[in-house]
Amino acid sequence: MNSFKGNDIISTELMTKQEIEKILDVAASMNEILKMKTKAKLLEDKILAVMFFQTSTRTRLSFESAMLRLGGSVLGFADAKVSRAAGPRAETLEDTVRTVDKYCDAIVIRHPESGAARKAADYSRVPVLNGGDGQNQHPSQGLLDALTIWSEKGTLDGLTVGIVGDMKETRGMHSLMHCLAKFNLKLLLAGPKEISPEPAMIRFLEDSACSYEVTEDVEGSIPAMDVLYTTRLNKEGADSDEAYMELLHRYPRIDLNLLKNAKKDCIVMHDLPRTDELGLQILPEVDDTPHGKYFDEVEYGVAVRMAMLALVLGGVE
Ligand code: CP
Repeated sequence: MNSFKGNDIISTELMTKQEIEKILDVAASMNEILKMKTKAKLLEDKILAVMFFQTSTRTRLSFESAMLRLGGSVLGFADAKVSRAAGPRAETLEDTVRTVDKYCDAIVIRHPESGAARKAADYSRVPVLNGGDGQNQHPSQGLLDALTIWSEKGTLDGLTVGIVGDMKETRGMHSLMHCLAKFNLKLLLAGPKEISPEPAMIRFLEDSACSYEVTEDVEGSIPAMDVLYTTRLNKEGADSDEAYMELLHRYPRIDLNLLKNAKKDCIVMHDLPRTDELGLQILPEVDDTPHGKYFDEVEYGVAVRMAMLALVLGGVE
């Protein structure tokens, strides 16, 4: 049963555990196509439009790669400045969507405003997939993170997943927590209190299947973690440049010294890019250890986006 067919994917918040497992199962089967470095014909008569109003390397290129691997075609813009959707006499988002939907079978949109993907979906006659809207949601990121954990650990249930860093303002982190909360696992939320989850997220976790603990003790939390997930500090959420830089100096950096008491099979994840004004959030010395899985996540990202496209466009049941 494919409940995604013909529908938008804007958020992971209201997805059921069964729907998340469906995407992960289909993504696992897509890995076979990826391993063969071939193209399937599941979406050969379909066209995907990408509308990116913000920069991206992974999300746009992996959605495009996913569509091409499924035999479909891609059009769109990577920068709104080359379209009529930006500039001094910019068309509204509504009018842009009501134009682009005539050229394609599905739209992927990334936009700086929270709620923009929902608005696009309200005006589109084809399914809209959210490639990240403001500080709100980034569902394909949360799902690819869940796929990475599930594939690398063989389960989601029973794990202790450490989230170290900005849990307040980053859209990928919101989507990941909304995904993982449906499973019987523990979220260990570690970092400076200024960037701990918002009350709405805490209420969501309270009502979910998972358990959770909030702590400022990053180093003391690491030995319990099966997964250590970190991300960038979101600048847009800071009160001022000074406040942002002050927090950045206290922001956890993952290096081998911090990982010395980690479980041998603890995997370290990051949505990437891992850069900020002070350098890298995960030092390169971690890259080639058994802990480092952040570049594997990139590959899982193609599989999960293939699954999302195939489900929404009816290429699989
Ligand atoms: N993780 C992520 O969304 O990367 P991009 O900004 O490169 O798409």
